[in-house]
Amino acid sequence: MNPTIHIEAGCLDNAGAIARQFVGGALAAIVSDDTVFSRYGSRLEASLKAAGWDVVRFVFPHGEAQKNLATYGELLSFLAEQHLTRTDVIFALGGGVTGDLAGFAAATYLRGVGLVQIPTSLLACVDSSVGGKTAVDLPQGKNLAGAFYPPHCVVIDPALTHSLPEETFRDGMAEVIKYAATLDGSLYEAIDHLPQTLEEVISRCVALKDQVVAEDLRDNGLRQLLNFGHTFGHAIEKQADYTLGHGACVAMGMAIMARACAAKGLCSPACRDRLLRTLTAWKLPTKTAFAPETLFLHLLSDKKRRGQKLTLVVLRETGRAELTPVLLEEALDFLKTGWEA
Ligand SMILES: NC(=O)c1ccc[n+]([C@@H]2O[C@H](COP(=O)([O-])OP(=O)(O)OC[C@H]3O[C@@H](n4cnc5c(N)ncnc54)[C@H](O)[C@@H]3O)[C@@H](O)[C@H]2O)c1
Repeated sequence: MNPTIHIEAGCLDNAGAIARQFVGGALAAIVSDDTVFSRYGSRLEASLKAAGWDVVRFVFPHGEAQKNLATYGELLSFLAEQHLTRTDVIFALGGGVTGDLAGFAAATYLRGVGLVQIPTSLLACVDSSVGGKTAVDLPQGKNLAGAFYPPHCVVIDPALTHSLPEETFRDGMAEVIKYAATLDGSLYEAIDHLPQTLEEVISRCVALKDQVVAEDLRDNGLRQLLNFGHTFGHAIEKQADYTLGHGACVAMGMAIMARACAAKGLCSPACRDRLLRTLTAWKLPTKTAFAPETLFLHLLSDKKRRGQKLTLVVLRETGRAELTPVLLEEALDFLKTGWEA
């Protein structure tokens, strides 16, 4: 695995020394939401001071609603007021919202400063902290302003996820299950043995993501496999006006695709059932009440649409998926078939 990714239970207290191997500077700016900072902020501060940094902190109210231009602007102003220089470092301590916001600020403040990601949600550990995508939302849509900016170092302490609300942990599990379905079928077994295998599961997901991103940072090919379940999932998320968890929507999207692929003979019933069984075991939903025709309308405004075509991630066997460009009416057929099956 990429040497800049460190995974170890309890390593938050050593994050400063770990990060020092990859980033320099005299000033460390911790960016965190209020929930996470109140739990873990002082431990990170102590570790950064021990590693020789002066520490300042930018703490914002938790939640997706804060991942916007206003908070981003406040953060940039804060960094300027603190005289953070190009050799200094931003430490993103939190879930995907914090990582995306702090990452985008790190990419753009002074045209790029040091960035260390310290993910605290399961989703951030296995997905958003690795891979270099940073963004904020615009009123017109999610993640519309952003940059590719890989962190200089990622410090993952799996023990931090123990304090997550059950529903937030489950949301992250949808992404974990996605890796098993599309890239490594043997991961299902480790998932079956959670929580004992938590560190192993996180390490394996990070290694898979790291490998995919190494080949396709800018999302032009292989990386699109990680969109499995997301095209239909995003449609469900939008139709529900973002009242459902992202993971729950991805779970429904993956289930629809798996049922459609099995019905069309693209994958075996066993491959479909392995996925559905695992989603159900994690109390993730596999059906939606929204009609396929309604969901289809959202596909028309999908960022990934190219003219009359969309690229679907099609399940071929347990642990293997393929990118398949289809016409919009074929996408509707997948949606209907997977919805009804
Ligand atoms: N950059 C990428 O590649 C990428 C990939 C996937 C998702 N994302 C983005 O990630 C965001 C979702 O991430 P998320 O689910 O982590 O959301 P989040 O950052 O809002 O975290 C979810 C909630 O859990 C709380 N929390 C986080 N860690 C905790 C802990 N250890 N203990 C207790 N509470 C904790 C947070 O305060 C928050 O209320 C979205 O904005 C999405 O667009 C980015």
